[in-house]
Amino acid sequence: MKQEMMTIVNQIQLAPHIYELTLKGALTAEMSVPGQFLHIRIPSADLLMRRPISIHEIDHNRQTCKIIYRVEGQGTAQMAELTTGTLDVLGPLGHGFEFEHLVKGQQALIVGGGIGIPPLYELSKQLVAKGIQVTHLFGFATKEVMYHLDKFSQLGKTLVATDDGSFGEKGLISVLFDQVTPPDSVFSCGNNGLLKSVESYFTHTEVQLSLEARMACGIGACYACVCPKVADPQKSVKVCDEGPVFQAGMVQL
Ligand code: FES
Repeated sequence: MKQEMMTIVNQIQLAPHIYELTLKGALTAEMSVPGQFLHIRIPSADLLMRRPISIHEIDHNRQTCKIIYRVEGQGTAQMAELTTGTLDVLGPLGHGFEFEHLVKGQQALIVGGGIGIPPLYELSKQLVAKGIQVTHLFGFATKEVMYHLDKFSQLGKTLVATDDGSFGEKGLISVLFDQVTPPDSVFSCGNNGLLKSVESYFTHTEVQLSLEARMACGIGACYACVCPKVADPQKSVKVCDEGPVFQAGMVQL
């Protein structure tokens, strides 16, 4: 983990309230594990808390990384206005996805919902580079808030469900589960409802879940992000530090 004032290269709006920010700096040399996140300070005197945002894509040649976020409050609204200058970035943080156990020719299923989808791109890219076949299942509220389907489709088959049926299958993402062949591993990121549905359906497969949690320090010091363990609910894990990626069945969702 390091801290750097990274340069803002570009910012684009992908969908209503959803933005993609490209940052450049030596800190990208530290980024390699998909599923890790950056802790970003909004350049405002009255907003002291950093915002945890997952890494969407890493380009070591250009020394750039991309993050995608949804505007949900004053801090992210201010961040969406930025097109030049620098941002105070701490990271990369957390425990990301593991796929050393997969070998060329095996199948990975990647399941994401809404603003949980961004970190799955770097994961999918690295899996494909290793010769692993990927299938993506994505859930969105409506067609209007979809983004980067073309980009994911270039890596592997991509199926979509929308809550209102405006694109793909109508309904929750679970309507897509029986449309895929059983994978060797499942990787998922999204809200707890989505993660629960993945965990309960893919019971005979290795499953890794990336949790969303409210965070403060981002480095395991404040206990703002704790979740109870399944095996012993009196004990808990810190999502920022021991996660955000956990094996299915380890944490109470
Ligand atoms: Fe402080 Fe996780 S955010 S311990």
